[in-house]
Amino acid sequence: MCGIVGYIGTKKACPILLAGLSRLEYRGYDSAGISTIEKNGLSLMKDKGRVKNLSNLDGIDNLEGTIGIAHTRWATHGKPSKENSHPHQDNSQTFSVVHNGIIENYNEIRKFLTDSGYNFYSQTDTEVIPNLIHFYFSKDTVNDELKFLRAVKNACLDLKGSFAIEVISKLYPENMIVVRQDSPLVIGTCENEKYLSSDIPAILSYTRDFYLLNDLEFVVLTKNSAKFYDINLKLIKKETQNIEWNASSAEKDGYDDFMLKEIYEQPIAIRETIGSKISMDNKCEFDELPFTKEYLKSLNRIYIVACGTAMHAGLSGKNAIEKLCKIPVEVDIASEFRYRNPIIDKKTLCIFISQSGETADTIAALKLSKEKGAKTLAISNVIGSSITREADYCIYTHAGPEIAVASTKAYTSQVLLINILAIYFAEILENCETKYLNKLKNDILALPKKIEETLKCNDTIKDFSKKIYQEKDVFFLGRGIDETVAREASLKLKEISYIHSDSYPAGELKHGPIALIENGITVISILTDNNLVKKTVSNIQEVITRGAKTLVITNQELDKNMFDIVIDIPETNCFISPILSVIPLQLLAYYISKEKGLDVDKPRNLAKSVTVE
Ligand code: G6P
Repeated sequence: MCGIVGYIGTKKACPILLAGLSRLEYRGYDSAGISTIEKNGLSLMKDKGRVKNLSNLDGIDNLEGTIGIAHTRWATHGKPSKENSHPHQDNSQTFSVVHNGIIENYNEIRKFLTDSGYNFYSQTDTEVIPNLIHFYFSKDTVNDELKFLRAVKNACLDLKGSFAIEVISKLYPENMIVVRQDSPLVIGTCENEKYLSSDIPAILSYTRDFYLLNDLEFVVLTKNSAKFYDINLKLIKKETQNIEWNASSAEKDGYDDFMLKEIYEQPIAIRETIGSKISMDNKCEFDELPFTKEYLKSLNRIYIVACGTAMHAGLSGKNAIEKLCKIPVEVDIASEFRYRNPIIDKKTLCIFISQSGETADTIAALKLSKEKGAKTLAISNVIGSSITREADYCIYTHAGPEIAVASTKAYTSQVLLINILAIYFAEILENCETKYLNKLKNDILALPKKIEETLKCNDTIKDFSKKIYQEKDVFFLGRGIDETVAREASLKLKEISYIHSDSYPAGELKHGPIALIENGITVISILTDNNLVKKTVSNIQEVITRGAKTLVITNQELDKNMFDIVIDIPETNCFISPILSVIPLQLLAYYISKEKGLDVDKPRNLAKSVTVE
């Protein structure tokens, strides 16, 4: 949720940290702060509001230190304010700490520290960390080179919850210590410099070589070394991983907003997702997966578990796996799944979809499934993210970094990847006609061009957004696979335009929601399934009769005069039609948000990566 960055090297840390924070602002943006090691001790500057406020603080340009930590906050404990902003320090101002995550037992620790004479100046859970480090540091009588590390480790062992933390100390002007548990943190490395960040894109312009940390691995950094320790403070070996993402893909490249750029990147993203997994003459390839015909036949069910947009992609996975593989699939919201005691055993395969790979509820659901004996498969966009390391197997969408909070290209690449997975399973199971699967593969290979074609609706959608941006309610309808897109389109609109919207299976409308349809209300329908199109048209007719304004997204032959606006999209196989039909609706949410003058990439109250429960 929050974003943390760090720098240790030969250059002034402050400008590097501020640039990193700006790139991480999508993770949280209600306050920001920085601490560097200066000649006279630790600097500490922080303020409520965006990173821009922090950059404008008096004196920030005078920071000379070449080691520093910084934070942009999404408030959980304590309202957005200067006092609650990170970094936090212990009472003696010996240690500065930034933290992403939630310390669940901070009340007990705070009480213990208060009883031991420590004072607290914020309402945050984080403030216990520097004080606890100070507590252990001051009790430690051994003055060896591991003293700082021991204090951090002892403090961390007392913490329950999730944390990625960076610690600097005025007593150790050459060092920084970092550790994570269930919250993301990566270390980029190059000659004489280390860059730290909650995610890779924020520091891609400096390096492609990254250390990816496992839970409770403690790292002592200097500008030219990184030493990794396990929980017993035994040195461990860690190799760097080379990340291929292109730095410019983390920049706006001339677009007004990341969201628009990411919508327009979908032809490339989809090409990357297809990668070498599909070739017409051969079966689908997933070298990273070991599934045999016997194993797939033994499955009594598959769960697809995810949150938000990723869950909507899961719904198209259900459609494909059930139809092509004849295995029952349940799609669950991760925050529900983890507490509903799901029926899981060795004959269950659990698939987790997460763009970021860091969503706390999805990770918890994954851990639960493993405990109950299921095999787990992660689908993520972020190489080395927590979920990919926790799962038994993982496959990547390769959509490139997605920065805008509202997910677009990650969604379409998730829909595609899970469909390719379904074909792969069907080929192993040999229960589907090769001709039928080949036709589907052909349609997949044609997608990038068809996405380009679909994007041509941009101007029509932009005009339509001008007509409806002041609406209070918008309804989305669809049947079958189109209903999954209706859900995603409705979420997109809510997320970035703050217009209330609902989606319904078109046939369900008459069982209640139709009471809400009145003169002038906007109803948007998706019609791509030839078998269901007539039924949905009848349902749209019902809302037209009641005065609704209608926008229809379709690849079918329809009597267009019936509707106010029809957006024609290219014809494709129904399994993958969401990849095309969602595009006009992504654009609609985007242009409505622009028309309302909102911050498209950083909508209120949301965060891209929800690393708390
Ligand atoms: C947050 C974002 C959503 C996203 C969801 C799941 O709620 O605001 O846009 O769909 O998390 O994220 P994930 O990274 O797990 O796909």
